[in-house]
Amino acid sequence: MSSIVLGLESTAHTFGVGVCSLDGDILFNLSHTYTTREGGIHPREAAQHHEEYAPSLIHDAFKYIEENRHKLVAVAFSQGPGLGPCLRIGGVAARAISLKFGVPIIGVNHSVAHIEIARKFSITKDPITLFVSGGNTAIVDYASKRYVVLGETLDISVGNLLDVLARDLGFGFPGTPKVLELADTASRYLNVPYSVKGQDMSFSGLLTAARRLLKVGVDPADLSYSVVETAFSMLAEATERVLVLTGKQEVTLTGGVARARRLAQMLEAVCKEHESHFTVVPSNLAGDNGAMIAYVGSMLYRSERYLRIEESAVFPRWRIEDVEIPWRKRLD
Ligand SMILES: Nc1ncnc2c1ncn2[C@@H]1O[C@H](COP(=O)(O)OP(=O)(O)O)[C@@H](O)[C@H]1O
Ligand SMILES: [Mg+2]
Repeated sequence: MSSIVLGLESTAHTFGVGVCSLDGDILFNLSHTYTTREGGIHPREAAQHHEEYAPSLIHDAFKYIEENRHKLVAVAFSQGPGLGPCLRIGGVAARAISLKFGVPIIGVNHSVAHIEIARKFSITKDPITLFVSGGNTAIVDYASKRYVVLGETLDISVGNLLDVLARDLGFGFPGTPKVLELADTASRYLNVPYSVKGQDMSFSGLLTAARRLLKVGVDPADLSYSVVETAFSMLAEATERVLVLTGKQEVTLTGGVARARRLAQMLEAVCKEHESHFTVVPSNLAGDNGAMIAYVGSMLYRSERYLRIEESAVFPRWRIEDVEIPWRKRLD
């Protein structure tokens, strides 16, 4: 029996519910992801998916809470950034739970949640974070009581690059795992553009080149391999630059694409060279999930960062630099 925070995630393709104790232990994590047979995510369809799955997922979470006699003390939800129609489903559910149970509502920044859930498993507790997902590609440091982006993509995210390539190869969403699987069967590397500018990266030229090669009939496995190796090398180089610049001693990897073993291998080699640690978020917490929202919610609860219902509108474009991080005050 513990005091717990319930977390709801609904920024894009996944509706997730999680339960976290006030000590930061993750007790429950369940989600359902909108997938397609072919083509990408349609925001309205993803929102409909959430509307359909939210009731039973929330029901299961409450069943768990009741069976274990936990005490619900707050409800946290992903307040942004994300797709407006999807975010609003989580917002409505969180408001309803807050009013029905008379517990405070807490707004969590989705990107901060991906970063914090990886930091929970980090060694030094002050790593730089490579955050790679469908919506983001950023190298983030903690400085001056904020998370700051020190390197990022100048155009599309790495997850988007691989999801679009997958779509062109005839796979649905999420496509990255399919491209990674295909890459494992390749026999040769094709020449594709590599673009790192300082600590930033550009993936759109790589996508254009890949699409052109696909049209002239190259082997899809060779193309997948070449795009994956090139994109991940770019990420590793930019991360290495930030590691050296900041003088931090750890890199942690998070976000949906953190499940790519090849990327972890490359980062591990970079860290080894700089006598630094490398850690990666557990795979069940890599992609969008409710547990990371409950986890950050529990830290915000301890800092008494509650929202009034009228302040709980969603922020589809909420930037990470604008988020206060009250729980890390003592470290900096
Ligand atoms: N097993 C996997 N390995 C690598 N990438 C994956 C895997 N499963 C999903 N992905 C990719 O992760 C990305 C989604 O990341 P996630 O953090 O869940 O969502 P979002 O970007 O919407 O916040 C997509 O690009 C998807 O293709
Ligand atoms: Mg995400």
